[in-house]
Amino acid sequence: MAGMPSTTTLPRILSGMQPTSDSLHIGNHIGALANWVKLQDEAFEPYYFVANLHALTVPTDPAVLRRRTRVTAAQFIAAGVDPQHSALFLQSDVMEHPELGWVMMCLTGHGEASRMTQFKDKVAKGQNANVGLFAYPMLMAADILLYDAAYVPVGEDQRQHLEVTRDLADRFNQRFGEGGLLVPEPYILKESARIMDLTDPTSKMSGTNSPDKGLILLSDTDTRIRKKVMSAVTDTESEVRYDPETKPGVSNLLVIHSALSGERIEELERRFAGHGYGELKAEVADVVVGVVAPFRARMEELLGDPAELDRILSAGAHRAREVAATTMARVRDRIGLPALRG
Ligand code: TYM
Repeated sequence: MAGMPSTTTLPRILSGMQPTSDSLHIGNHIGALANWVKLQDEAFEPYYFVANLHALTVPTDPAVLRRRTRVTAAQFIAAGVDPQHSALFLQSDVMEHPELGWVMMCLTGHGEASRMTQFKDKVAKGQNANVGLFAYPMLMAADILLYDAAYVPVGEDQRQHLEVTRDLADRFNQRFGEGGLLVPEPYILKESARIMDLTDPTSKMSGTNSPDKGLILLSDTDTRIRKKVMSAVTDTESEVRYDPETKPGVSNLLVIHSALSGERIEELERRFAGHGYGELKAEVADVVVGVVAPFRARMEELLGDPAELDRILSAGAHRAREVAATTMARVRDRIGLPALRG
């Protein structure tokens, strides 16, 4: 029988981001990227990728998709992903992703796929629903299961996708024998897992749905960042207090500050007692600028050296393919497909 999941290597972590806008935003950074960077320094073997196959579910001009794919990869590195340590790659470089995706589609009920909230929301908002969008979670399950990933660091909005992934891994193992695919655990940090739109703090900050003023992009200039934070929607009171139910705007600012500065929310509440929202906003803007400005510089440097970025992505693809091919050989064997012929 083709190789079982390896027990001799470190547990793997895996995560990805779609290149669906011109820049990642501070929600991507706080909800996911910051944890990718943290986990890469712990005892794991990390795999991080740009989900450009998933991005095809949103019709995009080819030149724009090409550019955004590279920008996203550069932004991973600018945020601190170390390509020497973490395998950093493009989903489109590892054909086992759509291959296992197909197997996952054949294990998923039509009704089950129809109940996915992200799909239902997107259709309700009028996005043209191609079959790729419908099958999105099965490709995502394949992304994860190919690497026997133990943990998947993502924001709260990905929780349902991870549940489907776990269900599919369980189903695969029940049908084709235990030890076939590793059932992954989500890695979602509570408070920072859902950063909200600055103009509408009851909706999540989203690169595809939020207006520009509601987003802090990792490519924004200092001036733009200050302007956006200073005009963030708050409430008619004046007390700086964390209460997402009744004070979503102020709570969002406190979460952003705390996630980036490391200062606890209770400490911020204490320090800002008796001060107005203007002062809180000014400090949040300083903290965000302090993180984004060096990030922006590093990103520009990386984009200025396309050959280096290509080298990094080739090395990452090579490492990813090795693992993906091993898992796919195991899957083929289990489900009754012949081994890939040379
Ligand atoms: P995507 O590209 O929408 O978002 C990338 C990551 O950023 C997190 N995120 C947020 N976190 C906190 N607050 C926010 N406002 C916010 N907006 C986005 C997301 O939770 C995510 O972690 N389906 C995935 C991409 C994907 C993937 C995978 C992830 C494809 N295959 C395999 C993990 C494993 C997505 O669309 O993320």
